Amino acid sequence: MPESPAQDLMKHKSVLLLGGYGGVGQCLARLLLKETQIEIVIAGRRKEKADEFAATLNREYAGHRVNSRCVDASDYTCLVAAFEDVQLVIVLTTTPNLIKQIAQAALVADCDYLDILVGENTFQDLEPLNSSIKQQKRIFITQAGFHPGLPAVFIRYAAQYFDTYEKAIIAMAMNARFERAEQAVEIISLIAEFKAEVYKAGAWRNATYQEALTIDMGSKFGSMQVFPIQMPEIKSMPEMFSLNETGVYVSGFNWFVDYLVFPIIWVSQKIRKGWATGFLTQLFTWGVNTFSSPYQGVVFLNEAEGIKDNKKQRVRIIAEHDDAYLFTAIPVAALLKQYFKGCLPFGLGLMGHIVDVNELFSDMEKMGLHIRVEEQ
Ligand SMILES: NC(=O)c1ccc[n+]([C@@H]2O[C@H](COP(=O)([O-])OP(=O)(O)OC[C@H]3O[C@@H](n4cnc5c(N)ncnc54)[C@H](OP(=O)(O)O)[C@@H]3O)[C@@H](O)[C@H]2O)c1
Repeated sequence: MPESPAQDLMKHKSVLLLGGYGGVGQCLARLLLKETQIEIVIAGRRKEKADEFAATLNREYAGHRVNSRCVDASDYTCLVAAFEDVQLVIVLTTTPNLIKQIAQAALVADCDYLDILVGENTFQDLEPLNSSIKQQKRIFITQAGFHPGLPAVFIRYAAQYFDTYEKAIIAMAMNARFERAEQAVEIISLIAEFKAEVYKAGAWRNATYQEALTIDMGSKFGSMQVFPIQMPEIKSMPEMFSLNETGVYVSGFNWFVDYLVFPIIWVSQKIRKGWATGFLTQLFTWGVNTFSSPYQGVVFLNEAEGIKDNKKQRVRIIAEHDDAYLFTAIPVAALLKQYFKGCLPFGLGLMGHIVDVNELFSDMEKMGLHIRVEEQ
């Protein structure tokens, strides 16, 4: 009988968190130590930072389950050597440009892989590896987290409330502070290459910011404008559920970033792609940190419509947390619980497509996400 990934994992190996002492990394490391029995390796380019955080975790959690390692994702040989005694590598770095090499190294070292990358082309970039991933019976999961990660999960979860599912509008609002400009590298390239799509009247079509919606984002954010974006993980949802309308919408940041920084990014990147990105990330993070409202947190929801028992039904599924890092790490930790149980398929998969949504919701709630369902 073939060995399941969970049995394989039980044998001896550990999970390496590349970028493990970063913002999301620290939250995920703590959740994993709390929620599972696994051993983890904290890795990044600065050995002293990795050592220091590993020592802190070993003081906080019993069993001396944390080690540290110096790993530079730009060095392929270093990656392969670092992954050799590891079962799973979790990529929490700000290095979208290095993703193919990190995934290739994971394959060569014969370990599983998970990333939380935001970029729209991540799945496409990794797809050429898929036949080797399947052949080696490895599990590669891409675009975990909440944005991406949760849009497809929320659309799938709402399906149980309808006999006929018609509409699913995903909206999110986030207010967080950036400690380092590098944390915004992926966001800047998304803004520079801004693309938006909505599904209406039986087809996907390009959208503009003029198709903004006004949505009630709960008591902390209130009623606000949200703008369409592109989110590859929901592309197959209209066909899966026969939806008439769907899309993912996000709020802006604040007047300074939305009306001054965004246009500067668009114009400068049109003139020359990649120009002054260091300055732009500094300007963007300064603008977010200086002009955003004092409340910090994330609200993520699906406003869904359909027919139930021959009546029109409207359902709002809302998740909230005051900490954006935890809002990212909790879905990943809940997904990993399914991975450790051996429930996930071999091959390359998007988090939003491969998880059991009911189990994920239940685990996310236990880990501290405030989730409520409003049926109208
Ligand atoms: N999917 C989602 O929902 C979601 C949500 C939030 C964030 N994200 C993404 O998550 C990523 C991490 O965000 P964050 O806020 O945690 O960033 P962060 O605090 O800057 O952490 C990044 C970590 O990566 C390490 N690192 C950077 N370059 C490296 C390299 N070449 N080799 C090895 N380690 C390297 C850094 O340490 P050293 O610099 O010391 O090496 C640091 O530990 C970002 O790309 C962000 O876009 C995704």
